[in-house]
Amino acid sequence: MNGDVGETLLRCVSCGGEYKPSPRLFRCPRCGGLLEVVLGNLTWSPRGKGVWRYRGLLPQTKASPVTMGEGSTPLIASRLHKGLYYKFEGSNPTGSFKDRGMTVATTIALDNGARSVIAASTGNTASSMAAYASRAGLRPVIFLPRNKVAKGKILQSIAYGAVIVWVEGSFDDAISLAMKLSEEKQSYYPMNSFNPWRLEGQKTLYYEVFEDLGKAPDAMVYPVGNAGNISAGWKAAQELLMLGVADEAPRFLGVQAKGASPIADAVSRGLDKPVFVDRPETAASAIRIGKPVNWQKALKAIRESNGTAVMVSDEEIIQAQRTLARREGIIVEPASAASYAGYLRMLEEGLIDRGDTVVLVLTGHGLKDPASLESMVSNEIIVKPSVDIDELDRTLRAI
Ligand SMILES: Cc1ncc(COP(=O)(O)O)c(C=O)c1O
Ligand SMILES: [Zn+2]
Repeated sequence: MNGDVGETLLRCVSCGGEYKPSPRLFRCPRCGGLLEVVLGNLTWSPRGKGVWRYRGLLPQTKASPVTMGEGSTPLIASRLHKGLYYKFEGSNPTGSFKDRGMTVATTIALDNGARSVIAASTGNTASSMAAYASRAGLRPVIFLPRNKVAKGKILQSIAYGAVIVWVEGSFDDAISLAMKLSEEKQSYYPMNSFNPWRLEGQKTLYYEVFEDLGKAPDAMVYPVGNAGNISAGWKAAQELLMLGVADEAPRFLGVQAKGASPIADAVSRGLDKPVFVDRPETAASAIRIGKPVNWQKALKAIRESNGTAVMVSDEEIIQAQRTLARREGIIVEPASAASYAGYLRMLEEGLIDRGDTVVLVLTGHGLKDPASLESMVSNEIIVKPSVDIDELDRTLRAI
């Protein structure tokens, strides 16, 4: 099935201005709005595995894909709720959904002759970018908010050989600095999600859900930080509609943590533009973002899909993380558990009907944030190898 054959464009999501793609064009020259990629030739012809299975819906590149088989992650049926599925993105090569975008963005960076790639991150973008850059022979430079990144993600980034710039401030400060550097010094190619080519790779999560279910679900639930992933999902759903592959699109539902919830707040108050949060706070460090760069795209995704966004407390997030681990066998980091906490809240508030086909995007692996698991109640004993077996048995039964 083919869409219109034409030239690939960048289109402003705010004023609709259209521009010829250029590697460093990320903002509308007319109004400063975000740009999205409009591919000239969309073809639904899935072949092979992972992100590049959807090559016909991805940008054409001269360089061959920098890939580690990312994507093709499991869609796991819930044991606890009818109609509920978990899209477990922790099984990507670096343990988060970011790899879907990085395989595409890194390939584009090579096409554009980049030597150094740069990103600010709450942790996962950094480790993913570092892995793909290492593989491509590019130099990864990451900007991290000091004392605000989970241990596993820091160690991953170090292991992949990233140069780390610790910013004494928030993620929002880190991304402003990284953007300034890449604007003023052209030798750094930016890989944050305002780079619309990266979001093209992130679209594939939705294509997989659609193929695995054999239809569009009623709703997709995303934890929202910088708001790129939910925007990419909506773009993917619209493309399948446009191509006639799907006859329905799901509602796009966002979840944010209280203390870092400008999008959920804008949705609940019906604002056209979010009120940014100066000092975002939540235990879910991956979504501790007060000034989401993709807010325009995310609000469009939520409103046009008849979706909504809610906020959840840290207590609800931690409880959701525990339930997913102990009752579903899935360990996720707190930001990802926010999807489940949000689902429970939306059920309670009647924003989702019981039995609806709903997919929770579980964005990152729990082992990336070991500190978040330390509060789990453990059942343990210490024994000598010579312990009496009857006594051991009695003790184990008593726990
Ligand atoms: C684990 C995890 N979940 C959710 C998000 C939020 O994604 P987005 O910034 O695309 O909204 C992030 C982003 O850093 C993340 O690392
Ligand atoms: Zn514009």
